[in-house]
Amino acid sequence: MSQTWSKGYVADVAYIEGYYVQQSPMRLALACHIAGVAVDLPQPGDQASYLELGCGKGMGALLTAAANPGWQVTAIDYNPAHIAAAAALARAARLDNVRFIEADLSLLAESREAQSIPAADFVSLHGLWSWVGPDVRAGIVRLLAAKTRPGGVVHLSYNALPAWQGAIGMQRIVYEAGIRAGGRSDSQAEAGLALARDVKAAGGKYLAESPMASDLIDTISGMEKAYLSHEFMSAHWCPFFHADVAAAMAEAKLDWVASANPLENFNELMLTEEQRALLDRYKDPIMRELVKDTCQPRQLRHDVFVRGARRLSDQERDVVIGGLTLSPLVSPGELQTKLQVPAGVAEMAGPLKDMMEMAMQGTATVADLLKSAKGRSSPIELASVLVGSNQCQIVMRPDDAQPDSADRLNRVLAARVDSIVEPKTSGGLASSRLGGGLPAATLVQFIAGRLLDGQREDDADAWIAQLSRDVLPEKHDRVREVVTAAIEQRVPVLRRLGIVPQ
Ligand SMILES: C[S@@+](CC[C@H](N)C(=O)[O-])C[C@H]1O[C@@H](n2cnc3c(N)ncnc32)[C@H](O)[C@@H]1O
Repeated sequence: MSQTWSKGYVADVAYIEGYYVQQSPMRLALACHIAGVAVDLPQPGDQASYLELGCGKGMGALLTAAANPGWQVTAIDYNPAHIAAAAALARAARLDNVRFIEADLSLLAESREAQSIPAADFVSLHGLWSWVGPDVRAGIVRLLAAKTRPGGVVHLSYNALPAWQGAIGMQRIVYEAGIRAGGRSDSQAEAGLALARDVKAAGGKYLAESPMASDLIDTISGMEKAYLSHEFMSAHWCPFFHADVAAAMAEAKLDWVASANPLENFNELMLTEEQRALLDRYKDPIMRELVKDTCQPRQLRHDVFVRGARRLSDQERDVVIGGLTLSPLVSPGELQTKLQVPAGVAEMAGPLKDMMEMAMQGTATVADLLKSAKGRSSPIELASVLVGSNQCQIVMRPDDAQPDSADRLNRVLAARVDSIVEPKTSGGLASSRLGGGLPAATLVQFIAGRLLDGQREDDADAWIAQLSRDVLPEKHDRVREVVTAAIEQRVPVLRRLGIVPQ
């Protein structure tokens, strides 16, 4: 049931905890660079500021604060259960540069509390815009207008049209049936989903024949109840066209620049040649995005905006991207050069493939990788493919030693893991070199915690014994396999990023 203060958004069940790499400052900077827009990256010692709106349990804000102890991080949510959970983790990790504020975004901009929030270099709103009503969205725009500094970068994700067109009716039947079932909103979502499943099974044409609605019913059926209630049970749930979101952001003097998912900015991988020719009829970026979304619908858009975009020449852009440092997130043996992309399967070949292989050897700048290749490739292509396929992440401070704040948070996160039979939350680990979080499964958090406590890989038998305690005996071999693989493949990445000692 919704409380009156929640204004139709779900507040009786806490949201799942999660970290999403699109929120990380370097990912946002890369999106801007790809679009040829300048970003003033904070230099070591600079007092930058990061703001998160609708922060949930605050994992993004916590990882950003721990990785950047010189920054001020502010995170806002009106659900006291979320703020309490986030603040408890901040306290446990003794983070003194993150502030969690319990406030309603429809009212915050004009409040006294807002005066104390510093103008932000980076802002993230993940999973908020499509789930709140018009008064909250208007309040968000006023807050962004007041609190994004000139040149600041904003990340905003939302359910997008026309992709969601095929499942709007599905959300509605889940929501209406759920409300009528009564009880807590997670039970409501389950009851609503049960009806949707039954209607589909009875051959109800819309749910059985609309490919998106039909697939979605199956894919979400096993998902966490808390996720489902927040996704489907908001009274204001509404997918948006990019053009309308861009128009709303323009009120805060924010210019749309790119997607935080690098591959989506790369039209050769998104569209066929014929579709690209249609796109090229337009120079206006909003119209180009509409054509793109019509050719390759994206359900969840991760848009990046800049307050006052400064355009770079192509040459300046290539120099900036060439100067970025890439660090591999996978072992050389795991490298994928055949990628599933919206336009189909793209097989990387020639110099690009050679450079991807070279990038797996260790931390290197884009320019160095390009220099070592025999043949032509562009900095944008190389960085987009490696980061977009999640095989590399951009490094903010290549040689930085991990600050105590990051070690403390990573230890706190690791100490919570005592089982690998876990709910599916998407967690992370703080890395000063990344200037943010490394997405990390709970098992990797567990291993990082042990290594931070001075244990070595030789202690793995004890780790496996601990993690096998709540696993059926016939599955113990599988636990050993999974832990051994994680040690072989993930520990070198943790070492390279300074997350665990050498
Ligand atoms: C889908 S959750 C996303 C949470 C977080 N960003 C994440 O991705 O894990 C949306 C969040 O917005 C918050 N929210 C909804 N309406 C709000 C409002 N009017 N003011 C402040 N926060 C609000 C909810 O409490 C919830 O934590």
